[in-house]
Amino acid sequence: MRVGILTSGGDCQALNATMRALAKTLYQQRNDVEIIGFLDGYKGLMHENYVNMKPEDFEHILNLGGTILGTSRCPFKKMRVIENGFDKVAAMKKTYQKLKLDCLAVLGGNGSLKTANLLSQEGLNVIGLPKTIDNDTWGTDYTFGFQSAVNIATRYLDEIQTTADSHSRIFVVEIMGHKVGHICLSAGIASGADIILLPEIPYDIEILAQVIQNKTNAGKKSIVIACAEGAISKEEAMLSKKQYKLKVASREGHSVVYEIANKLAHYTQKEIRVSCAGHAQRGGQPCPYDREISTLFGVEGARLIMNKDYGKLVVFTDHHLNAIPLEETAGKLKYVDVQGDVIRNAKLMGISFGDELV
Ligand code: F6P
Repeated sequence: MRVGILTSGGDCQALNATMRALAKTLYQQRNDVEIIGFLDGYKGLMHENYVNMKPEDFEHILNLGGTILGTSRCPFKKMRVIENGFDKVAAMKKTYQKLKLDCLAVLGGNGSLKTANLLSQEGLNVIGLPKTIDNDTWGTDYTFGFQSAVNIATRYLDEIQTTADSHSRIFVVEIMGHKVGHICLSAGIASGADIILLPEIPYDIEILAQVIQNKTNAGKKSIVIACAEGAISKEEAMLSKKQYKLKVASREGHSVVYEIANKLAHYTQKEIRVSCAGHAQRGGQPCPYDREISTLFGVEGARLIMNKDYGKLVVFTDHHLNAIPLEETAGKLKYVDVQGDVIRNAKLMGISFGDELV
């Protein structure tokens, strides 16, 4: 049995742990397994850049951050585009066939899973494993990497909290998540942030300013705003996709937190600082929860392969491991439920989302 593995898209914690569990299960259950690791994601599959892996390659990597195979971003929207005469999809199929693979395991987030689905529709045997710190993969309660990122973001916000208090400052802290705010929401609540700004809940700058004023009047020395990368104002929410892209481009690479801090400066005498948690949120060792869930995901992936149950994504829903068709998840995002219990209860205790006075 010849199984290809690749890790694709932005990295995260527990990629190695997932591969380890998949490989160990296959080696444990069968004696005819050969694993081919493609380097740097789909690029390795396109350009026949791979290594023949041995059981020892999967030893001592359970708690190792990053990915031993390397990764890259290969945007889905460009997959069908022939560039300089190079047909990416045909090249990937050719490598798969040349290496006589029985299956390809893709460890990827949303874009990568769309490509996995495309390859599956092209007739390759593919399974997916849900990777991303963003936890926005549709059809699974958790993706591996998420809890580790939440841990790091929470610690980061905790540390900001003490310096914010000492100086009686407002801090606008950028937390990863362009399209969805799961990390920011969890870390914001876990660190006791006063205000949480999410892509799913457009903020009103005047309300935000009033909330800060009210909290200050009530005796709060400092204000910590946990702000997702993709936080959006109510005016920006009215823009077309194209107009919004232009707006983001006009920030010239600067994060939204600078814009919010500048706007707030018109409303308050308090000192304002910004801070970005950045890519550290994706780095380092996976937390115990991610080590466990990724191990279970990896074993489930191996089960799918051994059962020849292809075209599926391993998921975890309602405390159960499961698998759903790749085509069911491809192209969909799992957003924060703005009507859900978490937002409701956070608001009840006085956390502001910048959309209404608390
Ligand atoms: O998809 C994971 C993620 O870390 C997002 O949270 C973040 O917006 C993005 O990747 C950053 O991408 P890059 O690694 O290309 O800077």
